[in-house]
Amino acid sequence: MDLNKIRNDFPFLKRGIIYFDNAASSQKPRQVIDAIKEFYEMHYANVHRGIHKLSEEATDAYEKARENIARFINAQPDEIVFTKNSTEALNLIAYSIFKTFPESTIVSTVMEHHSNFVPWQQLCKEHGWPFEVLKINREGKLLFENIGDVFAITHASNVLGTINDLKAIKEIIGDKILVGDGSQAVPHLKVDVKKMDIDVYAFTGHKMLGPTGIGVLYVKSDLLKRLKPFLYGGDMIARVYIDKTIFAEPPARFEAGTPMIAQAIGLSKAVDYLKSIGMDNVRKHEIGLLNYAMKRMEEVKELEIIGPDDVNERTGLIAFNINGFHPHDIASFLDKHNIAVRSGMHCAHPLHDFLGLKGSVRASFYIYNTKEEIDRFTEALQKLDV
Ligand code: ALA
Repeated sequence: MDLNKIRNDFPFLKRGIIYFDNAASSQKPRQVIDAIKEFYEMHYANVHRGIHKLSEEATDAYEKARENIARFINAQPDEIVFTKNSTEALNLIAYSIFKTFPESTIVSTVMEHHSNFVPWQQLCKEHGWPFEVLKINREGKLLFENIGDVFAITHASNVLGTINDLKAIKEIIGDKILVGDGSQAVPHLKVDVKKMDIDVYAFTGHKMLGPTGIGVLYVKSDLLKRLKPFLYGGDMIARVYIDKTIFAEPPARFEAGTPMIAQAIGLSKAVDYLKSIGMDNVRKHEIGLLNYAMKRMEEVKELEIIGPDDVNERTGLIAFNINGFHPHDIASFLDKHNIAVRSGMHCAHPLHDFLGLKGSVRASFYIYNTKEEIDRFTEALQKLDV
């Protein structure tokens, strides 16, 4: 992969900022920004409604985006529901599961982002259903034991970086419903939902070069057809009578109201961009950065990295603490050096509580980051105590 060419595609780099906050949200290449602009300027109309040519063009672009994004994770287009983000996708599936399969046992893990934890926890409380939470070991790896009817687990932790082997988990749990949160995986790894045989998988566009306001929910076709809808209204119906409604077939049944048209088109362009690099190359680049960063960070006194030691078991992010410094103070110090990281609990309070940590600093890498940037980052960290 041609790093210089990639860096030329990202206008924000002209500001000279070292952006290591990619797990929160990635920057956008020119191609994605241009695609959204072109759509709004030349092809904009609402979808699935008009007979006129602009509406046909918009509908065509929106549905082609669905096909392209489906292919990217090896799904069928009618298994893809567009949402606003991962959180909405996970709420949608949680509500639909609660409506469709009463009395289920829900199991999640202590390493979840709140988006794949709070919806299940709250719905279980409201319904009086059991909610169990699996623990992790010292290295940040899952301790796999009791599985309920629905197992909600992240594919990759947004703090530990740990990659969970969802294929192996699905082989163990058989016909129980496996819900994967792919928010931190799809931007960085080659994901194949059919190979994993996963039932439900959610991810978001803004962490993978796409715009904000677009998330994706994959649900295996047979399951999606059985699920009750979450939101009611326009566009999700086939026919409405005064006393009853016949719902549209999935995925439309789960997309009530005017959808995120430009955002889906922007995400499809982001997918094209990632495909042009190749997800294997994305991963290779990140492993290179991880190896280099972990080695260089050893030079920083009192620095402790959280999560697996083996870079092959983690995605391209490193959360850490430096004894004697508050995570926010470290982030603020790095910001003065034009280096953007995230600090705090990263929407993962149960995980930090479990680890006995008040927070951490997280440096998260992506395709445009370089080893020279890691040098500047570690050199800045070494100045912390002066
Ligand atoms: N989920 C995002 C993060 O981990 C916001 O930073």
